[in-house]
Amino acid sequence: MTVTLAFDVYGTLIDTHGVVSELQGLIGNKAKDFSHTWREKQLEYSFRRGLMQNYEPFSVCTSNALDYTCLFYGVDLTSQQKNNLLECYRSLPAFEDVKIGLEKLKASNYRLFAFSNGTADAVNELLVTAGIRDYFHGVVSVDDIKSFKPNPAVYSHFLRVSEAKGNSAWLISSNPFDVIGAISAGMRAAWVKRSKSSIYDPWGIDPTTTIESLVELHEKLANK
Ligand code: 2OP
Repeated sequence: MTVTLAFDVYGTLIDTHGVVSELQGLIGNKAKDFSHTWREKQLEYSFRRGLMQNYEPFSVCTSNALDYTCLFYGVDLTSQQKNNLLECYRSLPAFEDVKIGLEKLKASNYRLFAFSNGTADAVNELLVTAGIRDYFHGVVSVDDIKSFKPNPAVYSHFLRVSEAKGNSAWLISSNPFDVIGAISAGMRAAWVKRSKSSIYDPWGIDPTTTIESLVELHEKLANK
């Protein structure tokens, strides 16, 4: 049976904290905390828009969250500076382990997809800029159904579009909410715990497997 892998994008393949160096030039030593709050708020806005059924593209959540974060830290950025930051968000770097991990999986004939809250255009641009687009069979975006992870409908949408079955389809994600969402919707899921300090939500819905980097994924899947 061919195994299908759905890679989460922001935070799993692509490092959302790649904006920190840009932020440092603008706000100095608050940059790391700022980036963290920005990301948390971006996700919160996507959850809320999903629940409210008031969809806007993920880039709107990102932009609104940037405005919130400026207010939170009392940072007065010009529209030009905000636009530059949002521009950086369109070309964030991949994590170091990504290329080699994808290389191994691709060589073993897994079907690789990118599966994201981002629109297909935004995700394609990110993957091309990071030099990893060619590893993927396709990009599946929640934008097709105007909702966000972890709505179970978006995982069903992934299975439909990729023509995969839940028991042979894995979500690969660093985001615990995404892992729990996928398992709850009938997929299998690997949690990518790159940092020792990452915490998994104690809901009793455990990942099928946990890895510290994408380089380990090939071996873990072979033993499942
Ligand atoms: C993504 O869908 C959840 O941000 C994450 O790419």
